[in-house]
Amino acid sequence: MTDPVLDLISKERSARSARHSDVTGVRYLLHMAYIEAHDLAKTYTPKGAPAVHALDGLSLSVPQGTVTALLGPNGAGKTTAVKVLTTLIRPDSGTATIDGIDVQTDGDQIRRMIGVSGQYAAVDENLTGFENLDMIGRLYHLGAKASRRRARELIELFDLTEAQNRPVKGFSGGMRRRIDLAGALVIDPQVLFLDEPTTGLDPRSRLGLWDIITRLVAQGTTVLLTTQYLEEADRLADDIAVIDHGTVIAQGTSDELKSSIGGQRVELSLVSEGDSDAAVAILRSVGTAAPEVSSDRRTLAVTVANGPTALQAVLGQVERDGIRLHDAGMQRPTLDDVFLQLTGHSASADDEKEKAS
Ligand SMILES: Nc1ncnc2c1ncn2[C@@H]1O[C@H](COP(=O)(O)OP(=O)(O)OP(=O)(O)O)[C@@H](O)[C@H]1O
Ligand SMILES: [Mg+2]
Repeated sequence: MTDPVLDLISKERSARSARHSDVTGVRYLLHMAYIEAHDLAKTYTPKGAPAVHALDGLSLSVPQGTVTALLGPNGAGKTTAVKVLTTLIRPDSGTATIDGIDVQTDGDQIRRMIGVSGQYAAVDENLTGFENLDMIGRLYHLGAKASRRRARELIELFDLTEAQNRPVKGFSGGMRRRIDLAGALVIDPQVLFLDEPTTGLDPRSRLGLWDIITRLVAQGTTVLLTTQYLEEADRLADDIAVIDHGTVIAQGTSDELKSSIGGQRVELSLVSEGDSDAAVAILRSVGTAAPEVSSDRRTLAVTVANGPTALQAVLGQVERDGIRLHDAGMQRPTLDDVFLQLTGHSASADDEKEKAS
């Protein structure tokens, strides 16, 4: 007996690849990526408050079968970009296409090929976890039997078996998040938009979701996700677009972004605060930017073009000057360093502010 869900998926996949050979050809000729956004602008003008340029000339290219992360601080425009690409709002200007299909003029077609999990879980509070997923399947006309089967698979995949027959209004934040993510996968979409998918998930669920995303991408799904977590972008994304004030300020692989801000970092940890000025002078002589000094003035760091050469030079001079060290080392810049350099503020500091407020 054939499996109706697998059957449906395989029909959908073959229709997709037939259409693909045409559309991919056109895309190839036009040098277009799978998701393309050009110069998107969206301004909100709240009553009695200054206008907010949520998107201000945002352009983006996402190749098929890859994960692209939109990384940016609170208010950067990540959710607004996702809303435009998923047809939830219209931009004031600019264009966006998915697989060559215009998100503004062909919304129905776009909605049939995408899965979306928004920043805030959109679930029916009065239905159980299972019923929520089953309902989505029926709304997509999967049919009763296939909808139930898909709901059962997803309940298992997202580790919600215990909770599946309880109304969602009694779910914890992380359980809601998981049901919402499962909902985005009901139709096995070609493109998955995930707005801060792991915010509020415990470490085990977060690793589980990373694993699910990795498997989907290996099967050809294209994923655009937003995140505040540099580690998440580092771990999952083929490509990272750093967003600030409604525009992309840098795009590249994690390695490209890290090397774009200048090679490596040399760090020193001093025994005595009294040696701080002398150590800063040494670091300044090898650095490509001003040395950073911790508030207790005993941990110093500087970015350098060539890590090993700079570290040797620093250690030689430290010894000649009689400076005592607890530790000295070299490391590649983190994405947090990239963020700091590009935006003038740290992404994690932004997180802290959010938590404190
Ligand atoms: N409906 C709206 N009305 C007014 N302003 C809005 C609206 N939606 C978004 N904005 C503003 O647009 C800017 C971008 O918001 P957006 O939600 O896209 O940011 P974000 O990068 O997703 O932030 P976060 O990390 O906090 O989710 C913010 O200044 C926000 O206040
Ligand atoms: Mg957001």
